[in-house]
Amino acid sequence: MKTLLIIGASRGIGFEMARQARAEQWQVIGTVRNAAGITQLESIGAQGYILDVTDANAAITLKAQLGDTALDVALINAGIFGPRTPKLEAPSHADFNAVMQTNVFGAMQLGATVGAALVARRGTLAVTSSRMGSIGVRDGTAGWLYRASKAALNSVLKDMSLVLGPQGVTCVTFHPGWVKTDMGGSGADIDVATSVRGIRQTIAHVTPAQNGSFLNYDGSPIPW
Ligand SMILES: NC(=O)c1ccc[n+]([C@@H]2O[C@H](COP(=O)([O-])OP(=O)(O)OC[C@H]3O[C@@H](n4cnc5c(N)ncnc54)[C@H](OP(=O)(O)O)[C@@H]3O)[C@@H](O)[C@H]2O)c1
Repeated sequence: MKTLLIIGASRGIGFEMARQARAEQWQVIGTVRNAAGITQLESIGAQGYILDVTDANAAITLKAQLGDTALDVALINAGIFGPRTPKLEAPSHADFNAVMQTNVFGAMQLGATVGAALVARRGTLAVTSSRMGSIGVRDGTAGWLYRASKAALNSVLKDMSLVLGPQGVTCVTFHPGWVKTDMGGSGADIDVATSVRGIRQTIAHVTPAQNGSFLNYDGSPIPW
């Protein structure tokens, strides 16, 4: 049985990823931040653990939760948007810390632990980034703190690919599309099922040659 780990599986893209994988009989382990999230995961036959990615002990906690579980796919998905600024508004310390800790520190903290669990099955490590983090296609400034955090997350994924790629783990960073979730809002381009179907299909066909790439949910490359 194939095994999937989702960091940030309570709702939106993370929960839909759990739902679709369970529908195809995968073993699914999801992390959430409260007991209600665990109950929700259990209702679809997935296993839930409590983990806040900003917790300084999150890597130790996750290591204990996973034990010697071998993973085929892992998605580091937890993220927040932060202030919806239009231009160059200075962020508060609190907003800066919250966005960077969730979107960047979380992945940096958990990457080695998640990566180690993927080595035995030569699995795939994906992070949920955003096209808003691309510098190459940047054509707007809205949410510049979020943009900076996703650009930093892409840098982190590239470094993971350089360490984990030679161990057989393929590392990719995804733009999930503009998705109708709590974060994306009801006016977004695509529904969550379409986004996740695309990400899952892309992961299913990803090759080691794509290690360290930035991909759209439909598998097409995005400039850094
Ligand atoms: N929706 C879009 O259009 C879009 C576009 C580009 C990229 N993305 C990215 O896709 C990912 C998922 O977003 P979404 O649209 O599904 O948003 P969402 O519905 O707001 O879900 C965000 C998820 O992140 C979790 N999370 C937030 N802070 C956390 C923390 N400190 N520790 C652990 N988990 C935490 C949330 O858990 P709680 O329920 O406990 O808060 C929730 O499961 C994010 O990284 C986002 O940046 C989304």
